[in-house]
Amino acid sequence: MIRMDYKKILSKITPTRQEKKAVKRFTNKLIKTINDIAEKKNIKAKAELVGSVAKGTWLKGEADIDIFIKFPLKTPKEKLKKYGLQLGHECIKTMKGQAEEKYAAHPYVTGHIKGYEVDIVPCYDITDASQLKSAVDRTILHTRYIKKNLKKEQIKEVLLLKKFMKAIGAYGSEFKVGGFAGYLCELLIIAYENFKGVLEAAALKWRKGQIIDIEGHGTGKYFKNPLIVIDPTDKNRNVAAALTQQKLSEFIIVARNFLENPKEDYFQEIKYSHDKEKIHAKFKQRESKCIILEFNPPNVPADTLYPQLKKTMDTLVSHLSKEGFKVNRSSYWTDEKKNSLIIFEFETWKLPAYRKHMGPRVWSKKHTRRFHKKYGDKIWIEGDRLFVERKRKTTRPETCLKSLLTEIEYLGVGKHIKKELKKGYKIIDINKYLEGEQSQEALEFLDAFLNPGKHLWRS
Ligand code: UTP
Ligand code: MN
Repeated sequence: MIRMDYKKILSKITPTRQEKKAVKRFTNKLIKTINDIAEKKNIKAKAELVGSVAKGTWLKGEADIDIFIKFPLKTPKEKLKKYGLQLGHECIKTMKGQAEEKYAAHPYVTGHIKGYEVDIVPCYDITDASQLKSAVDRTILHTRYIKKNLKKEQIKEVLLLKKFMKAIGAYGSEFKVGGFAGYLCELLIIAYENFKGVLEAAALKWRKGQIIDIEGHGTGKYFKNPLIVIDPTDKNRNVAAALTQQKLSEFIIVARNFLENPKEDYFQEIKYSHDKEKIHAKFKQRESKCIILEFNPPNVPADTLYPQLKKTMDTLVSHLSKEGFKVNRSSYWTDEKKNSLIIFEFETWKLPAYRKHMGPRVWSKKHTRRFHKKYGDKIWIEGDRLFVERKRKTTRPETCLKSLLTEIEYLGVGKHIKKELKKGYKIIDINKYLEGEQSQEALEFLDAFLNPGKHLWRS
C-alpha cells in the first residue's frame, strides 16, 4: 500500500501563522466594537467568538467568522431580535463593511468586512441545554465542548476530514448539501481519534442507523435517522439530523475507495466540464429523451429553496411515471438568483395512444359488474382478469409535463416554487436547450448529471 503524505495536504489546508494572527486580531476588534456599542447604548449583551475560528478548526483561507451576542435569559425575544440586529448593523458600519440580513432560527446580520464574512447572531446566554430557547443557543455550548475535548494534535485530523468531505461534496449541513456539519466532523474525530479512524469506522463498522454516543447519554434509540450522533451537550439532539442517506452512502463508499487506494486527489474538489460540444455529444450518445424544465427561482433563503426544488422534482417524477413516462434519472440545479433547472431523462419519446388498464378478477360478481358498467363492451379477459384499454391524455413526455404543470395548483409542489411556475416556465428538449446560451455552472450541472459517480473514485 502506498503511504499517504498527509503533511503535504496539511500544508495546503492549515492556516498559516500570519493568517491565524490576522484572524485573531480582527475578531478581537469585532468583539470589542460590539461590546463597546452595547455598553454605550446600555444594552445588556456580550459578544463571544464561536464556530470554527474559536475552535481553531477552519480551513486555510476560509475563515467565516461566527460571532454570537449573548443576552441574559430573561430578555424578551422581541428585544433580543431588535438589539441583536441593531448591534450587528452598527458594528458592521463602524468597521466599514457591507451588511446583509439573513434568517436562521431568528434574523441575524452577515457583514462583509475587509474580505471576511462575519455572521453576527443574537442568542441566549445559556450554560446548559435545558435552558435552550432557540436552536442557535446550542452553538455556545458546542464551541465550549470542542475547545475542552478536542486535543491540540487532533485539530489537523479535523482539517483533513473537513477537506475530504468538501472534496466529495458532503461538507455542510445546509439543505443544499445535506452533508456533514463542521461540528459533526469534530465530534467524529473525538469519537474515533483521528482521520483514519473515522474513515475506517465508516468503511467497515457503520451499520444502518449507526449510533455514536460519546458521552453515553443513552438516547440514541429515540432517533430515526441514517446516522445518529448524540450531541454531547444536549442528549435530545442528533447532530447528524441533517445528513441525508445519499451523502452518508457516498461518504462510506469513498472512505472504502480511499483506504484501498489512498491518493492525494481525494482531497481535491472534482472539476466538472463546461465543454458544450462534449456534453452535447454525450447526451446524443445516450439515445434517450432528456427534457429540461427551466424557470425563475423564488426569492427565498437557500434552506427554503432547495427542499422545495427537490420536492417539485420528486412530485413531477412520480406523476410522470404514473402516466407511463418512466423517468430513468432526474436532477435539479439553481444559481439561487435567476435560473433553475430540473432535468428528466426518459426511456421513451412516445407512448401508444391507448394504455392497457387492469380490472378485477372474474370471481367477484359485484366488481366485474361495476367494471363492465363503467367501460362497456370494450373489456376483455386474460386468464382470470378483466382488462380494458383507455385512451391516454398525452402520448409524449413533454406534453404530459406541460399538462401536469397546468394542474399545478393540485400538485405537491413547494408554495414559493408553485408561484413562480404559475408565472411561467419553459419545457425544452436537451438538444434544443444546448443550442442556446448557458452559464458555465449550468453546463457543469449537466456534466455532473451525465457523470453521477464521478466524485466517488479517483484514479
Ligand atoms: P458553521 O456552519 O459556521 O460551522 O456553524 P463551523 O464549525 O464554524 O465550521 P466552518 O465555518 O464550516 O469551518 C457555526 C456553529 O453553528 C453550529 C455549530 O455549533 C457550529 O460550530 N451548527 C451549525 C450546528 O450545531 N449545526 C449545524 O448544522 C450548523
Ligand atoms: Mn463557521
